Amino acid sequence: MAKVTVVGAGNVGATAADVLAYREIANEVVLVDIKEGFAEGKALDIWQKAPINLYDTRTVGSTNDYSKTANSDVVIITSGLPRKPGMSRDDLIATNAGIVKSVTENVVKYSPEAVIIIVSNPLDVMTYQAHITSEFPRTKVMGMAGILDTARYRAFLAEELNVSPKDIQAVLMGGHGDTMVPLPRYTTVGGIPVTELIDADKLEAIVQRTKTGGGELVKLMGTSAWYAPGSASAQMAEAIIKDQRRVFPVCVKLEGEYGIDNCYLGVPVVLGKNGVEKIIELDLNEEEMALLKTSEKHVKEVMDVLEKM
Ligand code: NAI
Ligand code: 2OP
Repeated sequence: MAKVTVVGAGNVGATAADVLAYREIANEVVLVDIKEGFAEGKALDIWQKAPINLYDTRTVGSTNDYSKTANSDVVIITSGLPRKPGMSRDDLIATNAGIVKSVTENVVKYSPEAVIIIVSNPLDVMTYQAHITSEFPRTKVMGMAGILDTARYRAFLAEELNVSPKDIQAVLMGGHGDTMVPLPRYTTVGGIPVTELIDADKLEAIVQRTKTGGGELVKLMGTSAWYAPGSASAQMAEAIIKDQRRVFPVCVKLEGEYGIDNCYLGVPVVLGKNGVEKIIELDLNEEEMALLKTSEKHVKEVMDVLEKM
């Protein structure tokens, strides 16, 4: 019996809950929101879709009553403001840090054994906030960004090469922002190095588009994306609940790996029942390492802002 709580029943949270339900990843999904009746309404709507889409996952909504979340195996935190045009993810820090802190306190009270997945932005620093507040080990507090950013990169490549996105494998590292580090050297198309299939300038343009992929959607929609972020969060929960040991880029606290200490950054990990089962250390070349260090510097600057607040 797997139980997942999703905090924040907005665009990303409701999408994650829907995917968790219709793919029967969990037996029970609890949606929580601060807005009166909102989570209850979304949960009821997802439940009423069950006879159409044929699943039996129970979906329950709650307005800020965390007793309903008790003993969750995984908790996905999406509560907080999304980006609006002209805003960076870092502009959200003051409001979202307060929200993530209070939500995490409630979550750990009722689910002391849960694995926590943070989605709220600025992602790397909000994950750090949840780690401090929960006092959970780093293996059990992680952030979702790498699966999304990699998916954008893979989707752009599939479109350019006119092949199935299923056949594109890639690794992307660093923070969830413009300093993220897509790694063409670790990108393959059906096992073939991508560099053998695409011109260097086209690949560079795709890397750049990936880095600003979130902003592209904010510009188009006036708010940030939800289908891919919601699915990515559900995919992480699935790997944990089913102990799949999937290899994903995940935002995790580095304690010396890649020569980086006390910083939440995206790196490839093995995800299983205990959360982050293993951090994979790639043999990065000088240029890739320099990009990762720039990303670390940026995340640490935002961590400093948080610590001074
Ligand atoms: P949204 O505005 O649609 O939903 C956020 C929900 O959080 C709202 O329903 C709001 O009532 C709720 N909320 C606010 N304070 C709360 C509290 N204290 N307790 C419970 N619920 C609370 O926003 P959306 O689009 O779902 O985005 C959510 C967050 O996820 C944003 O911070 C956004 O920037 C981030 N995001 C992160 C991504 C990533 O890759 N890590 C991708 C997409 C969004
Ligand atoms: C995204 O990348 C804004 O973090 C959000 O879509």
